Amino acid sequence: MMPSDARRGRVDFIDLAPPPADFGREVTAGLSRPAKALSPKFFYDAEGCRLFEAICEVPEYYLTRAETEILARRACEIAETLGRDLVLIELGSGSSRKTRLLLNALRPHMYMPLDIARDHLAISAASLAAEYPWLEIRAVCVDYSQAFTLPPLQSYARKVAFFPGSSIGNFDPDSAVALLRGVRDAVGRDGGLLIGFDLKKEVEILQRAYNDGQGLTADFNLNLLRRINRELGGDFNVENFRHHAFFNEQRGRIEMHLVSALPQSVEVGGQHFHFDEGESIHTENSYKYSLEDFRAMAVAAGFTPVRNWFDTARRFCVQYLVSGTE
Ligand code: AVI
Repeated sequence: MMPSDARRGRVDFIDLAPPPADFGREVTAGLSRPAKALSPKFFYDAEGCRLFEAICEVPEYYLTRAETEILARRACEIAETLGRDLVLIELGSGSSRKTRLLLNALRPHMYMPLDIARDHLAISAASLAAEYPWLEIRAVCVDYSQAFTLPPLQSYARKVAFFPGSSIGNFDPDSAVALLRGVRDAVGRDGGLLIGFDLKKEVEILQRAYNDGQGLTADFNLNLLRRINRELGGDFNVENFRHHAFFNEQRGRIEMHLVSALPQSVEVGGQHFHFDEGESIHTENSYKYSLEDFRAMAVAAGFTPVRNWFDTARRFCVQYLVSGTE
């Protein structure tokens, strides 16, 4: 059965987000580890979303521009490859800016943006609905990095997931395969996945992308401490930490850390955490792939790569994969 016209241009909002208590619990657990670490998913409060959008505009952070070039230039080819009459499910939809590049060519039955940032998701979905009155939108506030079940969809719908931005690179290889396997299960046997991932390249280009001259990436990283202060009553003195981002050759990833500039103690949620001078909180990994690396991960998750698109400088790849292995 096709969706009725009455649903077009309307946003259904489904809230499956974890309660805020999870943030506090994960922060105190992360700061209690011998090697302190916090999940990058916590970067994205309202201020973090704003800073990330600003990072995407800085000259050094080429990823967004490269992927946008691919999607803008290849939208028709991509739409032909993905086929018609599908439900487009976007993981980590943010402002759905990249989706806009595909919607007119793709004309999906329904768009299902998934994001953990509730307010940002609601605002973005509403403005998308105003711009594309023909589109049925079902926004789902969910932590897609954890196992989750999609709200039920009509059985006629072929599902294609869209996971742009090289956000897959923020997951360690085992978690990335588990996440892709979850996507495979969600899209089913006749489904597909359109994914963007960053390619391996000269170390200087990578390091510059995560150490921009305007200091926005540093601010984005440090905002995590400010968020802990705001939401959990922490007493981090942000001046006493510095942003550190470098390429770890052996692991094929950019690592971001917040390094304590001096010995200090910080209180969060009634617990005290000691930092030695030079001790860091590991806040993010951003893996960079060869096509072979990525194929191995995709196949392990039950997908077969079908087609690649690259930007002119060949820094970034958008790949379409279908369910099933050869
Ligand atoms: C969202 N994610 C793919 C970005 C990345 O490049 O890993 C987050 C980011 N971290 C620093 N700059 C941008």
